[in-house]
Amino acid sequence: MQISKDFLKNGEMNEVDLNGKSVLVANVDGKYYAVGNVCHHMRCKLHRGTLAGNIVECPCHGSRFDVTDGKLIGWLKSTSNDLLRALRFFGWAKDLQVFECLLEGDKVNIE
Ligand code: FES
Repeated sequence: MQISKDFLKNGEMNEVDLNGKSVLVANVDGKYYAVGNVCHHMRCKLHRGTLAGNIVECPCHGSRFDVTDGKLIGWLKSTSNDLLRALRFFGWAKDLQVFECLLEGDKVNIE
């Protein structure tokens, strides 16, 4: 799918539909990034949360993800690093799918 570069201002994010899949697109310092928009915890949509720099925080229970690479940074608001490691081991806490954003003139192709 293709969006205009003007779709988002710096520091903004929104949802797009990519072949039926909900994708979060974010503009971080003029670069576009796209990751899965559904939090793995209880399926809240991340674009309704907050974006601080390259970190999106889930609006429901505060899990945090890096939009530049989809990495899970923190699972729920109060989870310790030890518990996060255990949850990752069992596959409950996982990273977001990453989609490629290719700049083509004043358009951004999301694949
Ligand atoms: S649904 Fe995202 S942290 Fe709970």
